[in-house]
Amino acid sequence: MNKQKNGIILYQSKYGATKEYAKWLSETTGFKFLEIKKAKIDEILQYDLIILGGGLYATGISGISFLKKNYSLLKPKQILVFAVGASPYVDGIEKVIAENNLTGELSDIPVFYCRGKWDLENMSFIDKNLCKLLQNRVSKKDPSSYEIWEKALIEAGNKTHDWTDKAYLNPILDRIE
Ligand SMILES: Cc1cc2nc3c(=O)[nH]c(=O)nc-3n(C[C@H](O)[C@H](O)[C@H](O)COP(=O)(O)O)c2cc1C
Repeated sequence: MNKQKNGIILYQSKYGATKEYAKWLSETTGFKFLEIKKAKIDEILQYDLIILGGGLYATGISGISFLKKNYSLLKPKQILVFAVGASPYVDGIEKVIAENNLTGELSDIPVFYCRGKWDLENMSFIDKNLCKLLQNRVSKKDPSSYEIWEKALIEAGNKTHDWTDKAYLNPILDRIE
């Protein structure tokens, strides 16, 4: 990894896992980390490398709209995207996330996956009810037909989990040119 590179880490996190990964990345690289909501495109354009991370919500990467909206300006930069979800890591998960989130000219952007956190009781009222509804709906399906995320949803149940692990960041650090 070239630590001399001028990079920034942008993140969007609702329950803290993506923020933790952004902080760890910042500690290792020395790059600043900033919430996407606070990012101003003029400032971001000063960096050569943009690492953007967001929690996965109904298969979408939160905060990815910033990249889509500003892609014409950001295109010449090195861009890396990471998604944080409750699903266990499986081979090819990055490809599925990329297909759901980065289409057209954005489809060449490398996507990484880091496992996050799950705490049903401390979710917002809406999220908690949505997840309970989904768990209920999924539990009626044949388990052999579960999608990865559906399987994770059932296994997570109403227990608290913290699957965050710095090791998930190694593939990202390896790609920093
Ligand atoms: C309403 C809702 C939808 C979710 N959808 C997904 C999903 O599609 N895939 C997944 O792997 N995890 C999903 N999760 C789990 C979150 O991605 C996980 O809690 C992650 O840690 C969120 O990142 P954050 O802590 O930075 O907000 C969902 C969680 C909630 C509350």
